[in-house]
Amino acid sequence: FAMLKESSQSGAPLYLQLRRSIEEAVNRGLIGPGDALPSERDIASKADISRVTVRKAVQDLVKGGILVQRHGSGTFVAPRMERVEQSLSRLTSFTEDMARRGMNVRSVWLDRGLYAPSPDEMMVLGLSSTELVARVARLRIANDTPLAIERAALSASVLPDPEAIGSSLYAALGMTGNRPVRAVQRISATNLGDADARLLEVPPGVAGLQIERISYLASGKVIEFTRSVYRGDAYDFVAELRLTG
Ligand code: GLP
Repeated sequence: FAMLKESSQSGAPLYLQLRRSIEEAVNRGLIGPGDALPSERDIASKADISRVTVRKAVQDLVKGGILVQRHGSGTFVAPRMERVEQSLSRLTSFTEDMARRGMNVRSVWLDRGLYAPSPDEMMVLGLSSTELVARVARLRIANDTPLAIERAALSASVLPDPEAIGSSLYAALGMTGNRPVRAVQRISATNLGDADARLLEVPPGVAGLQIERISYLASGKVIEFTRSVYRGDAYDFVAELRLTG
């Protein structure tokens, strides 16, 4: 920040100069992922600029995903995302995928309960309007980084007590002989809305992947209809292609 004070004659607006010097400090590794930034007041007094200027620079960097702000605890350098490479040819669960990578998995419940089904749910799950749907919505977190929001819908007849699934939906389904054996997955591009972006700790509007999975039992019956939003900066979906003759 002292450097900034010296170069403040250079003509560029002060908040831009401050933004650049913070960016440079991050790029050069002077401050690393998870490090706390000094308070607005400290930066302002060290660089001899106003707090409004500091706030503008910091807000730009938060929007750009370089810094993250946590309410009540301050501003930090954003954690560096290691991209997760996910095969598209195996029917695995989130818990299994992360455990295979040695990552710690946890979920925050967003919703779980029995509801009257929506028209989509009735159609995909083959429910009548008098049957109930079990909804299980979770924010899925690996090594403390939120990676995806998953909203699963199943017939209440296979999941009468959504509160009781524990940490893995597929493990719970496996216990009642309802683990899916086949799935069709559709991946499309999306821009994250404000609420989803907040949960995933990314700036609103950034790119995400919308994933819809419909999975089946060996009998051909649909068991799961899940709509998820994955962080675009965290996932590579990889499929192996073969020439068939
Ligand atoms: C993946 C799929 C979801 C599925 C979930 C089950 O993430 N995209 O469709 O519901 O795995 O994961 P778990 O068994 O960890 O709850």
